[in-house]
Amino acid sequence: MSKVKAEPFKIKMVEPINLVSRERREAALKEAGYNPFSLKAEDIYIDILTDSGTGAMSDRQWAGIMMGDESYAGSRSYYKLVESAQDITNYKYIIPTHQGRGAEQVFFPQFIKKGQDVIGNMHFDTTMAHIEIAGGHAVNLIHDRAFDTMTPHPFKGDFDLEKLESYIQKRGKENIAFCIITVTCNSAGGQPVSMANIKAVSEICKKYAVKVFIDAARYAENAYFIKIREEGYGDKSIKEIVREMFSYAEGFTMSAKKDGLVNIGGLIGVKEDEEVYRNTRSMLVPFEGFPTYGGLAGRDIEALAVGLQEGVEESYLEYRIGQIEYLGKRLMDGGVPIQYPTGGHAVFVDAKKLLPHIPYHQFPAQALANELYLEGGIRAVEIGSFLLGRDVETGEQLESPMELMRLTIPRRVYTDRHMDYIADCLIAVKERAASIKGVELEYEPKVLRHFTAKLRPVK
Ligand code: F0G
Repeated sequence: MSKVKAEPFKIKMVEPINLVSRERREAALKEAGYNPFSLKAEDIYIDILTDSGTGAMSDRQWAGIMMGDESYAGSRSYYKLVESAQDITNYKYIIPTHQGRGAEQVFFPQFIKKGQDVIGNMHFDTTMAHIEIAGGHAVNLIHDRAFDTMTPHPFKGDFDLEKLESYIQKRGKENIAFCIITVTCNSAGGQPVSMANIKAVSEICKKYAVKVFIDAARYAENAYFIKIREEGYGDKSIKEIVREMFSYAEGFTMSAKKDGLVNIGGLIGVKEDEEVYRNTRSMLVPFEGFPTYGGLAGRDIEALAVGLQEGVEESYLEYRIGQIEYLGKRLMDGGVPIQYPTGGHAVFVDAKKLLPHIPYHQFPAQALANELYLEGGIRAVEIGSFLLGRDVETGEQLESPMELMRLTIPRRVYTDRHMDYIADCLIAVKERAASIKGVELEYEPKVLRHFTAKLRPVK
C-alpha cells in the first residue's frame, strides 16, 4: 500500500478563520451586489479567489524580513535577490518590480510598434491590457484541446505549432512585436506547457526573427509538471528544468506573488542583451523607482530572494501540486465536472456542464460562485463571459468559449481538510444544480467590470 505523503512543513503561527451564519452570508452577498469581489474578507471562511500574494511565508523568509536593507540605492538585499534569481534562471540581468503588471508595463512597450501583434499561448488579462495600451494587439494561439475540459492531455497549455507558424507567415514577421509563453497557462486552467513545445516555439520564432519572452508567474509549477509528465525529465532537478525553460527565451516578466512565495513583488529578467537591460532599467525609474528597489521595500526583496529558492524545492512542489490534484479528485468522484487533468494553482470547475440551463449572458460560473459562498462561506472566482465583457464596437455581450469557476489555492495556507470542506460544499451545491438561477447586471462600470459590477439573481 502506498503511504499518504504529508505536508513538508509544520505550522508555527496560525490565523483564526470563522464561518459566519447563513443569514449573514445571504446579507453579505446581497450587499456585495452578488459579486464575490466586493465581499469583505471578514465574511469569508475559505478564500480561494486567487493564489496571488496570498501564500504563507516560511520562518526563513520572516527572518529575511528583519534583515532587509532599506538603502535607497545599492541595497544589500538587492544583490542577494539578483544572485538568487540568476541562480534559478541563468540570466545575466535581473530587475525588481513591485509586482507582475509593473514588470509588464516597464518591459513590453519598448518592443511594440503601433498596430503590431503580440502572439502567445494565452495572455493573462494584465499582459493583454499592457500590450493594448502600448498600441499592440494580443493574439492567443493555444491548442484547441485546452477548451475541451473532459479529454485529458498532459500539456493543455501548449501552443498549436501549426497555428503559430501559419499566423506569423500570414501576418508577416514585421507585424509581430514578440511572442510570450505563459507558464503555466493561467487562463486555460493553470495548464502546463511542455519543454518540447517551449523549444519548438522558440525555434519557429527564431526562424522569423521574432523575440520570445516568458510570463514566468508559475514557472516552478510548470517545471514540476515537466518533471513528472514529460519523457526524459524524471531524473532532472527542478532547477535544471527551470534553467532549460528560460534558456529558450530572451527575457521574462514575473509576478513573484505566485511561485516566488511572497505577498508582493515582481521581476524582469534579460538573458544577455545589454541594450535591452539598459533601456529597461531607465524606464523603471519613472514607473517603479530606482533600479535596485523597483517599488519594493528592502525587506520584501530579502523575502523574495529566499522565496525563489524555496519555490523550486521538489518536496514543496510535490505537496503543492498534490493538493490541487487531491481537491480535483474529490470533486470528480463527487460528479463535479472540472478541467482535467488539474493544473498547477487551481481547480477549474466547468460551470457550463454543471449548470447547462443557465445561458452565457446569465453568467453560470458567477451564479455558481455565489452559491458556493452561500453554502460554505467559500470565495471562488468566475472566469467566463462575465470576465470577458462586451464587444468594444457593438457593445454586445461576448460569449466565452468556457464558463469556469476557479478554485485558486494559496500556497502553504490551507490543509487537505480545508480541501475536503471545499469539495463537500461544492458537491452539495451540485446536488441542487437544477434549482440554481442565473444572474444579470444591475450596475456595470465601463472598464474592468468584473471587479466592481453589481448583479442580481434572475427572477
Ligand atoms: N501573468 C499571469 C500569468 C498572472 O496570472 C498574473 C496575475 C500576472 C501576470 C500579473 O501579475 O498580479 O503580480 O500584477 N494573476 C493573478 C490571478 C492576479 O489571480 O491569477 P500581478
